[in-house]
Amino acid sequence: MKRKKLVAGNWKMNLEINEAIHLANDIKAARGSFNCDVLLIPSFLFIADVKHIVYATGIHLGAQNCSIYENGAYTGEVSAKQLKGAGVEYIIIGHSERREHFGENHNVLRQKLEIALKYGLKPIFCCGEPLDVREAGKQKEYVLKQLQESLFGLTAKDFANITIAYEPIWAIGTGLNATPEQAQEMHAFIRKELADKHPIALQMRIIYGGSCNPANINELFGCPDVDGSLVGGSSLRSKDFIAITAAAK
Ligand code: 13P
Repeated sequence: MKRKKLVAGNWKMNLEINEAIHLANDIKAARGSFNCDVLLIPSFLFIADVKHIVYATGIHLGAQNCSIYENGAYTGEVSAKQLKGAGVEYIIIGHSERREHFGENHNVLRQKLEIALKYGLKPIFCCGEPLDVREAGKQKEYVLKQLQESLFGLTAKDFANITIAYEPIWAIGTGLNATPEQAQEMHAFIRKELADKHPIALQMRIIYGGSCNPANINELFGCPDVDGSLVGGSSLRSKDFIAITAAAK
């Protein structure tokens, strides 16, 4: 089954406004070369500016987080509805950094998934094991539990709007990416588990994240179940990010 690749830049809590504008403009200038879907995921603060830059270019816009609440007296929060209204299409849910630093458990993630889907945002649901779990050879059990807890109760229609990002925690920001064999094994496993629930999972994109760069991306994209990448550090350098998009055919 043919799935168009998605290359997404998760800018995390990086860049100042002028740098974000510069980066978005550089990526926009390269759009003629894209053979994949390209998605920029800036800080909330830059969403309006990046939206203005990528408007009508075919480049997609995402956000890194949303509130579990609809609206109201929740100081400091940003709602799914507000994001939708601001032109956001995709939303990252379940990133390991939010699980670790902000205590987001599966109850929270489930609420975020539901509210994002309710307001028409497309979740990028992140899963992935820490190093000790990988070393113990228990990565499949670990990731399966993450999928079971947050996704298994959802409908086939919900699945159709979700992208999965497999991001082994030991590979995030470490320079140590999963090998193509490790990535393929986990992506195929995730797809099978989800497809057992809803066959539509055969069409879902499962993207890889963790120390992707122009030097390792070709072999990762050569894996049949790797449908793109969620890029952190390398997405902050336009040359590297554009090189990663060029590897996606
Ligand atoms: P790095 O590409 O910096 O390893 O980050 C990956 C990531 O966490 C993307 O969400």
